Amino acid sequence: MIKSSLIEPDGGTLVDLIVPESQRYSKMTEIESMAKVNLTRIDMEWVHVISEGWASPLRGFMRESEYLQSLHFNCLRMEDGSVVNMSLPIVLAIDDETKGRIGSSLHVALVGPLGDCVAILRSIEIYKHNKEERIARTWGTTAPGLPYVDEVITPSGDWLIGGDLEVLKPIKYSDGLDNYRLSPKQLRKEFESRKADAVFAFQLRNPVHNGHALLMNDTRKRLLEMGYKNPILLLHPLGGFTKADDVPLDVRMEQHSKVLEDGVLDPETTIVAIFPSPMHYAGPTEVQWHAKARINAGANFYIVGRDPAGMAHPTEKRDLYDPDHGKKVLTMAPGLHKLNILPFKVAAYDNRENKMAFFDPSRAKDFLFISGTKMRAYAKNGENPPNGFMCPSGWKVLVEYYQSSQAQ
Ligand code: ADX
Repeated sequence: MIKSSLIEPDGGTLVDLIVPESQRYSKMTEIESMAKVNLTRIDMEWVHVISEGWASPLRGFMRESEYLQSLHFNCLRMEDGSVVNMSLPIVLAIDDETKGRIGSSLHVALVGPLGDCVAILRSIEIYKHNKEERIARTWGTTAPGLPYVDEVITPSGDWLIGGDLEVLKPIKYSDGLDNYRLSPKQLRKEFESRKADAVFAFQLRNPVHNGHALLMNDTRKRLLEMGYKNPILLLHPLGGFTKADDVPLDVRMEQHSKVLEDGVLDPETTIVAIFPSPMHYAGPTEVQWHAKARINAGANFYIVGRDPAGMAHPTEKRDLYDPDHGKKVLTMAPGLHKLNILPFKVAAYDNRENKMAFFDPSRAKDFLFISGTKMRAYAKNGENPPNGFMCPSGWKVLVEYYQSSQAQ
């Protein structure tokens, strides 16, 4: 076998926890006698993430030792003493009743929201879920109103269950977007078949405006100047849980395809795929997870701009995190040194040039910052943003979405 020229996955081997088809039947039979643990929609998203190796070398929901390392060091220590980055705890919560039902079982079956067994968790370990500590360490605050906390952690059980995961078959959503859900293995294959000599990833959870495009196109230019002949862009929208006022995935995917059709990004050198992780909105802590997962998918360059994975403070009138900390942290993060981080200045609408451009503090008054809230207000009111903010066909997708959701 020819050795891949792509960056090595964390831990050296890409984790793949999908049971081979030939073993599926015997596993299904084995499951019948196991204690059952019910999964929420978001637990399923994590099963998906772990099963395809986005969190390599993690092989299941975290046991206590992994949880503590992640929570306190943002890293996991490997047997050879090296560390890989792992800034978010990937855990499965259960309640008292489920814990009682499991008793002293060694292995449990995981049951999806539709009632079907989707996976086995082996050699389990159950330990306390101190929610306050988890929240405070992950977000740096316990302020009320953090979306993932309110919707996922607070309603969850007081115990965490870790173990090795075996997933019976690939996770599908049947929402018309499964063909965009490429696993790290599939992405690596695609980069190799395109003979990419550099892969640069762009994580996003918002529609692509021309400021985002500026970052991506500038990166491509820089990579060509550095001597790379065939850099490929991984345009990688996040597909899991997002907060209620973010634009839904299907609308974003349609918007992204318009951006490519319009030539704002070059379809010849871009791969669009969905990153299945849920969103925490944990700023500099979470952006490390976003970057680490893309190493596993074969990216060796990672673009980062203003306030990655950030949001407004839930109770105060300010950003929750310093908008420059995400990129600063990423360039220093333990376990991420093999990834080339490309930090970018903030882009804003330049009223003098009538286009999105990097903010120039020496003529600050020429620049207009169009926040997510402002963009939504334009779209809801049927107003157009300034010319050159976003390609017209992409903007039309957003207007139609906001106007139809208002009508309901
Ligand atoms: S994120 O939660 O996925 O980080 P978003 O989709 O808004 O949010 O951003 C995607 C990427 O673009 C992140 O790297 C972010 O830092 C960057 N970014 C977003 N808006 C700007 C901007 N105006 N200027 C520079 N970078 C930006």
